[in-house]
Amino acid sequence: MSFFDGLDPNEDDDFNVIPLFMTRVLPATRASAPTIAEAAELIRAGEVVAFPTETVYGLGADGLNEKAVAKIFKAKGRPQDNPLILHIANLAMLDPLVTYVNPLHKAAFARLWPGPITFIFEKSDLVPDAVTAGGPTVAIRMPVNEVARSLIAQADTPIAAPSANRSGRPSPTTAYDVLEDMQGRIPLILDGGACDIGVESTVLDLTEPIPTILRPGFYPLSMLNNYFPGVRLDPALEYQNLSALESPEAARHSKRDPKQAPPKSPGMKYRHYAPKALVTIYAGEDTKVLKRMVEDFHLREAMDKKVGFMVFNQGAQYLRDTLPAKNTEIRSMGNGTFIDTMGQRIFRLMRELDRAKCDEIFVMGIRPQGYGVAIMNRLMKSAGGNIIHVS
Ligand code: TXA
Ligand code: MG
Repeated sequence: MSFFDGLDPNEDDDFNVIPLFMTRVLPATRASAPTIAEAAELIRAGEVVAFPTETVYGLGADGLNEKAVAKIFKAKGRPQDNPLILHIANLAMLDPLVTYVNPLHKAAFARLWPGPITFIFEKSDLVPDAVTAGGPTVAIRMPVNEVARSLIAQADTPIAAPSANRSGRPSPTTAYDVLEDMQGRIPLILDGGACDIGVESTVLDLTEPIPTILRPGFYPLSMLNNYFPGVRLDPALEYQNLSALESPEAARHSKRDPKQAPPKSPGMKYRHYAPKALVTIYAGEDTKVLKRMVEDFHLREAMDKKVGFMVFNQGAQYLRDTLPAKNTEIRSMGNGTFIDTMGQRIFRLMRELDRAKCDEIFVMGIRPQGYGVAIMNRLMKSAGGNIIHVS
């Protein structure tokens, strides 16, 4: 294996000229794993280390060290105006990072943390501008993954960490996915196995008069409403939900004009989670969607294009029985009734279908309800809004 494996030779940044690191991958599935101490040492020394969390793998550095944080942006190729999440190991680490904690929210933090949710606060002077992209607020999360928390505790500093993918790519949910994007760019990846959830944390802004979800995640709105009465989705996300439900024309003509509702979370404006293959979402009744996918496949087949399919168990069986083996890659996202499995697999399968050299990916969509809001949000981003409503 060469240093350059997994790196995109067409991108002209420094790392393709001279890789800076011989990236090591070390196992860490328990809080007590000795490899975590080594990773914590690197963090303390101002280096960048990838580590598992319950959502996706993170690319971590000392969140109080401006130079270390700058290395994250470099390794990821991330735009400088997109702020990072600070990860903490316990509630005592919160206070020094923020100016104010609403006493009414304390019970919620105790119940929802550690967990797959990030809260936005007014930042204290301790937090460097590099973390917040110069803004007055800071995003904070306490992950439930025990390797992540052990790493933060041993490094004894809040760890700034975006998802450990190259900017724009699908988030990594295995150490292999991280290696694919970060080989030669960072010294160490802690391998904690596949991530339990597979979709990034909810981002909930508590600095607004109305608590606002800037990025949907594992916890549905209805559940968060118990802790933050009146919590709402950012209007840009409402619009996206609508276009996932209806035809894009209908959404465009509705009152919810996206131009009047620019995304508030800076990260939400970039093309995101995108595999190399072109992604199309098919929404509608299962049997009709599958029939349409088969028709569309034959159009691609005529041009000798390879298509990857992301459908549910029964659909995968149907496609295997119906389609030729040549030019097809068929993957299941689970049984379709328990969408947690779909969440676990969406990013991993997109990466897998890229490796299988698919030109296009056809994905079965779901209704944007409950956790489905978050899953459809990621799919809509991966597809650049490319959705076909089959009726
Ligand atoms: O699950 C996760 O959150 C993972 C794991 C590693 O913890 N991290 C993650 O980080 O997804 P990242 O950088 O890929 O996404 C963070 C999101 C971005 O959309 C960013 O714009 C937003 O949070 N964000 C960060 N700080 C913010 C702030 N102060 N105000 C508004 N949005 C913020
Ligand atoms: Mg990300």
